[in-house]
Amino acid sequence: MADTSTPLMDEIFRPYEKLVEITILGKTFLVPERNSLLRAFQFISPETIPYGRFCWNQECQYCKVSCQLSDDDQARPILSCKFLVSDGMNISEMAPELVGCLRSKLGAAAPAANPPSEITKPDRKLDNQNEKLER
Ligand code: FES
Repeated sequence: MADTSTPLMDEIFRPYEKLVEITILGKTFLVPERNSLLRAFQFISPETIPYGRFCWNQECQYCKVSCQLSDDDQARPILSCKFLVSDGMNISEMAPELVGCLRSKLGAAAPAANPPSEITKPDRKLDNQNEKLER
């Protein structure tokens, strides 16, 4: 698990009281509640996510994932820099930049070089779909 005891890590994450469980490509992780999904990815892999080509501002779409919430009946595309993590999230597809950054944590769950479907294509309609945004 990531070391969150350093002052730098404490400043990066929004205050949280507990960790929640999410599933990424079939592998389970514990991440801090009340943070964006991209911050949760940073919690999982603090040595790679900060060096990814992420704008952290809903522009680049390199953080796009296909995600199903615990109360959803199907997966939907979201921007992980915009969407808050929640217990039971199930991420079934990820943009290549995320796969590259999380590859060592995902192990065999990480897809090969060419990821599937529209998750790799830019989609400006996502702004309307991320209604659970915390600003
Ligand atoms: S990090 Fe650029 S859109 Fe999310």
